[in-house]
Amino acid sequence: MEQAPKLALKGVSRTFSDLTALSSTELSIKPGEFISVVGPSGCGKSTMFNIIAGVLQPSSGQVLIDGKDVTNQSGHVGYMLQKDLLLPWRTVLDNIVLGALLKGGASRAERSEGVALARRYGLG
Ligand SMILES: Nc1ncnc2c1ncn2[C@@H]1O[C@H](COP(=O)(O)OP(=O)(O)OP(=O)(O)O)[C@@H](O)[C@H]1O
Ligand SMILES: [Mg+2]
Repeated sequence: MEQAPKLALKGVSRTFSDLTALSSTELSIKPGEFISVVGPSGCGKSTMFNIIAGVLQPSSGQVLIDGKDVTNQSGHVGYMLQKDLLLPWRTVLDNIVLGALLKGGASRAERSEGVALARRYGLG
């Protein structure tokens, strides 16, 4: 039996005024599958990632994770940006827990998880 996709895009389009950045894009990625998206600058890669991450609304179409419609919902997907976009005036830990800080403050448990993550990625 064909394995159900972990992530799927169904007819995803996005325009910025009269510019079409994505047009009826279809994508289907199986669990554990590793894919690369290659294309010239401006072809719509970041636009697609931002829509998958739920931080940019598509003009039309749907994003599905495990078959569930998660269009316009953030929090299901994490991705590493092209640039690190760290805040140089903050400590490493305060950069790691920035998401929690912006949501109202990082708890002791979140800071402790941040330290564990830093160690795991060789930043201890
Ligand atoms: N917020 C925006 N407002 C207007 N136009 C935008 C916006 N974001 C992206 N675009 C345009 O949409 C098109 C796709 O941009 P996108 O950033 O997705 O390309 P990319 O493939 O990620 O390029 P690069 O390889 O340079 O990162 C480009 O023409 C870009 O100028
Ligand atoms: Mg890009």
